[in-house]
Amino acid sequence: MRKSVTILGSTGSVGLNTLDVIRSHAGRFQVAGLAAGSKTDLLFEQIREFSPKAIYLRDESAASALSKKIGRRVRLFTARDGMNRFSSFLNSDILVAATSGTSALLSVLEALRSGRKVALANKEVLVIAGALVMAELRKNPRASLIPVDSEHNAIFQCLRGHAVGSVSRLLLTGSGGPLKDVPKKHFARLSRKTVTNHPKWKMGKKISVDSATLMNKGLELIEAAWLFGLPVERIEVLIHPEAVIHSMVEYADGAVLAQLGVTDMRLPIQYALSFPDRLASPGMRIDWPSLKTLSFSMPDRGKFPCLDIAYAAARQSGSAPCVLSAADETVVGAYLDGKVPFTRIPTVIEKVLSCHRRAPNPDLEEIRSIHDWAVQETKKLCGINRRDS
Ligand SMILES: NC(=O)c1ccc[n+]([C@@H]2O[C@H](COP(=O)([O-])OP(=O)(O)OC[C@H]3O[C@@H](n4cnc5c(N)ncnc54)[C@H](OP(=O)(O)O)[C@@H]3O)[C@@H](O)[C@H]2O)c1
Repeated sequence: MRKSVTILGSTGSVGLNTLDVIRSHAGRFQVAGLAAGSKTDLLFEQIREFSPKAIYLRDESAASALSKKIGRRVRLFTARDGMNRFSSFLNSDILVAATSGTSALLSVLEALRSGRKVALANKEVLVIAGALVMAELRKNPRASLIPVDSEHNAIFQCLRGHAVGSVSRLLLTGSGGPLKDVPKKHFARLSRKTVTNHPKWKMGKKISVDSATLMNKGLELIEAAWLFGLPVERIEVLIHPEAVIHSMVEYADGAVLAQLGVTDMRLPIQYALSFPDRLASPGMRIDWPSLKTLSFSMPDRGKFPCLDIAYAAARQSGSAPCVLSAADETVVGAYLDGKVPFTRIPTVIEKVLSCHRRAPNPDLEEIRSIHDWAVQETKKLCGINRRDS
């Protein structure tokens, strides 16, 4: 029987790749629901092609125009209903969490509570509320959480058949981002196009800026700590510009297992959807003779302070990662809107973290209010009034 799939963030980079996987394996998967923020035309095209039972569109005014076009055959949810109501109404076999930011948190918690498979791209959900998400996963033996992020998907594959107790450390690889070879003294003059132009992956704007500051690796190490139950001290970031190895696991005996593949998000997405099976991916092969070198180096921590800011927030644990994520999302949004320069991103995040009174074990309500507090503090530091936002 075909597995039904709901995609949160269907109009984004991961969402579009997920639909491509479903298109290639239409005998295995069918779309149950699609959720988007504001790209109405693209969502409409997706409705026509995939005939979902229900859709979610956050933007209320765009939703009313869309509802006239789609008629009554597709149930429409909006921000007033909440994305969580939309995803639990569908109760599909697989929930793909591919929105940016934190809007998918309740949907992910609810899907795990009802014993479903969650394919998680949206790392911010684990960064802000890893303890709650993992507790929900442990409580429900039928539920599963499969990482889509290529690094975590690689580690997940390298851990198959091994006890986590025999792991010595995780090696989280990263290409180094678009600014790896740009001297720090030039950072103040970079165009947004340069900052968001990732050398290896085509992604949404927020994650592209995070890749330029290396905050993406910082968020990923917190995500890895939750997913694989290891302290951040045993997770190391390694720069690997060729992006052929997607991450590695070093075991107690010194053996290292690595997962390699072409840089195409459809591979980890497909593995997450089909797990524990593997499906065919014609054409997605490494061209071995063209691979001259696989190089590795340590990240330049002076040039990219966001990495150490993230390690520090991870060590503080409790509500600190939530503040890190909220501050990062807000200041990156301000940077993309032209309200703060690129070079202020780390200083703003560090300042917000330093003003925060850490809660050791925040529940959902506390996470919400701490997140809101961090967003407001960041906006103040970026000179954004409530009216502007
Ligand atoms: N892109 C990658 O290759 C990649 C790799 C690994 C992990 N990730 C992670 O995956 C997540 C998505 O990344 P992305 O690059 O795909 O981002 P993206 O291209 O910016 O797409 C984000 C998607 O989420 C939707 N969205 C945003 N806020 C929403 C809300 N409040 N309600 C409903 N929909 C909302 C957007 O809708 P509209 O466009 O219609 O506004 C869009 O469909 C991020 O957490 C990122 O870190 C991405």
